[in-house]
Amino acid sequence: MIKINEHYLKLRASYLFSDIGKRVAAFQSANPKMEIIKLGIGDVTRALPKVCIEAFHKAVNEMARDASFRGYGPEQGYGFLRRKIADNDFRSRDADIAPDEIFVSDGAKCDTGNIQEIFATDITIAIPDPVYPVYVDTNVMAGRTGSFKNGRYDRIVYLEGTWENGFIPRLPEQPVDLIYLCFPNNPTGATISKAQLQEWVNYARAHKALILYDAAYEAFVRDDKLPKSIFEVEGAREVAIEFRSFSKTAGFTGTRCAYTVVPKSCKAYAADGTALSVYDLWLRRHTTKFNGVSYPVQRAAEAVYSEKGKRQIRVLSNYYLKNAEMIRNQMGALGYDCIGGENSPYIWVNGKTDAWAFFDMLLTRAGVVCTPGAGFGRCGEGYIRISAFNSYKNVQKAMERITEALNSGE
Ligand code: MLT
Repeated sequence: MIKINEHYLKLRASYLFSDIGKRVAAFQSANPKMEIIKLGIGDVTRALPKVCIEAFHKAVNEMARDASFRGYGPEQGYGFLRRKIADNDFRSRDADIAPDEIFVSDGAKCDTGNIQEIFATDITIAIPDPVYPVYVDTNVMAGRTGSFKNGRYDRIVYLEGTWENGFIPRLPEQPVDLIYLCFPNNPTGATISKAQLQEWVNYARAHKALILYDAAYEAFVRDDKLPKSIFEVEGAREVAIEFRSFSKTAGFTGTRCAYTVVPKSCKAYAADGTALSVYDLWLRRHTTKFNGVSYPVQRAAEAVYSEKGKRQIRVLSNYYLKNAEMIRNQMGALGYDCIGGENSPYIWVNGKTDAWAFFDMLLTRAGVVCTPGAGFGRCGEGYIRISAFNSYKNVQKAMERITEALNSGE
């Protein structure tokens, strides 16, 4: 008899963004004339930068001729891309990362979901609340948690983000083994200083723990004092893995390209206490289960690092940051406390009411989709997340409609 992985039965019915998609689809079919503006899932709307398109076309043409055709590429990614990443994203900021410590992949979501399989199932994991749901659900699937009760899974150590701590959780009070951090944060838009990040690195070093650092939104950091990478912090090479993505940086959500940095000095331990290389384990996993990102996509990603490419992606992130500023200012003017939206494309709004009720109100009265904070964890109750990923015109229209709906005060 074929048996299932029973841990899947502990999961909540569906993934947050599928759930929202279903509610929106139901509302749209009941109101076919309503033009709905989506500021929910953080999906980009602007075309790929011109340099990427040119590189993409050129690489596709290479694939059209036997002489320049390429079959399987290196699983870890082509050297041309990994060298550019190491030089531009890390070495230029004094973060000591070598090209062969970079693993090119098809997405930070997949990588943050997959990485946990190289660790034991009886470790203690610490996950922020509110949080990007992938970190939680993939650990539930792996059997690292108990059942779901009162909005939380047993056996997870929740790191609470609150208005009072600026959504930067305090260090855990008990020892934990694997820690998930994401800055600029999804969903709250909070940012972390180098000194605060240093405390987490120090904690990990003291407890032989490992930090999984999701930096998918680093391209939105404008404050030069803020770290873009955990490897800008002393000692992080021994205790951290970092995830990056071209999705939000260069509009690659549909094109798919990301990378994970696993320093060779990063250690995890066998049951008998022997220190082992996390790099070797991830290399083994990656080369066994992944066949690399397509050549044209990697060439398109490489183009991001040309001088023109750097300018074009800056224009792209500036565009969304301008939207973010408008959302933050307008929600503030309407009397709602917000964080994020500066150095981040997400604005976290204290809705002062049930998060799903606020979501429904914005959908039905303004035709605007946001994400209810409760979907990101118990500490997200009462909040909504508004994404700046849409056209300036649509964001403007959404803000006008929200203002009207809230001012009508029904
Ligand atoms: C989000 O809206 O949180 C993200 O777009 C989801 C993702 O990147 O997978």
